[in-house]
Amino acid sequence: MRPLRFATASLAVAALALPLMTGVATADPSPDRAAAPHSNATFDRLRAAAPEGFVVGTAVAGGGHHLSQDYPDPFTYDREYRKILARQFSSVSPENQMKWDYIHPERDRYDFAQADAIVEFAERHDQVVRGHTLLWHSQNPEWLEKGGFSKEELRAILREHITTVVGRYAGRIQQWDVANEIFDDQGRLRTQDNIWIRELGPGIVADAFRWAHEADPAAKLFFNDYNVESVNAKSNAYHALVQDLLAQGVPVDGFSVQAHLSTRYGFPGDLKDNLRRFDALGLETAVTELDVRMDLPESGVPTAEQERKQADYYRRALEACLAVDGCNSFTIWGFTDKYSWVPVFFEGEGFANVMTDDFDRKPAFYALRDTLKAAKKAENR
Ligand code: XIL
Repeated sequence: MRPLRFATASLAVAALALPLMTGVATADPSPDRAAAPHSNATFDRLRAAAPEGFVVGTAVAGGGHHLSQDYPDPFTYDREYRKILARQFSSVSPENQMKWDYIHPERDRYDFAQADAIVEFAERHDQVVRGHTLLWHSQNPEWLEKGGFSKEELRAILREHITTVVGRYAGRIQQWDVANEIFDDQGRLRTQDNIWIRELGPGIVADAFRWAHEADPAAKLFFNDYNVESVNAKSNAYHALVQDLLAQGVPVDGFSVQAHLSTRYGFPGDLKDNLRRFDALGLETAVTELDVRMDLPESGVPTAEQERKQADYYRRALEACLAVDGCNSFTIWGFTDKYSWVPVFFEGEGFANVMTDDFDRKPAFYALRDTLKAAKKAENR
């Protein structure tokens, strides 16, 4: 039995145990009866299929690449999208809406509108929230990157940002990605492209965790990165750093793997072992941004074999997390191809999510659902 850490998750499970919810506590979206086209029966939902205490999440589309497409903030207006978001998931991650360039667009101005809306939506639907992210080399506003600030000013700016943003949502965020992608693939700290580490030295990372903890002692504080699914130079660097920080009493709670996978490469078969070695340090672990992209044939339509392979990757990533005691949060980076970042960032690749543009479920969706069900059944035995 997994330790049941989060009251909201258990509430969600309790609510979903009611046969076909009648809209209680779900003023928005509208009740099940209206949702004809895609079966939304309770047993069919990812969040209901999950074992107790295990949350299944998705990124919430908006900001970032969306702004350059004709769908700048799908979360705010796509009704069907919102319905599925509420029905299927027990955790949400703002895809861009809590990043520096979005939430802190000018030095003396924060824009909390979308982040607030996501947190409120989550509370209405008994979902937990993963905050993303506080210290990163990317998606920083120009006023910050090009501001010519002194070291003292930069330190004060970071401290103020963390205190303000984490403090605003104190008690309402389950996990924060405090530091995102601080190592390169060789396991070297990003001392050039990360403004904080470049200007203030590696010690700033520990301070970021301390400030976040002060602002919200209840939030679990994470390191998050890509290409750390396997045991490799980069994940080794985290493994060493975390031990060092824990020995100094720095409040680090978790290590998470983004898991932006591609069927071009083999599945990282040692994912479970890798998560386990962080678990052994006393950390929580999580899968935070899973998607599985592929090279699209000229027709743009993947073959049945490609879909099968993709489903297999989704299933194995979920199984790895389920097999690790402290891995209780599993998030996919969006659920529909319609709003995926993949075609915008990886030329010729796509079809990375568990639903099509029209929200039709792919084999990958059923792979997740059936794997969750099997885990729940095994737990109840
Ligand atoms: C991506 C978003 O999906 C895009 O909308 C945005 O344009 C760029 O960032 N690692 C992360 C995420 O930690 O924040 C990134 O999200 C994907 C890679």
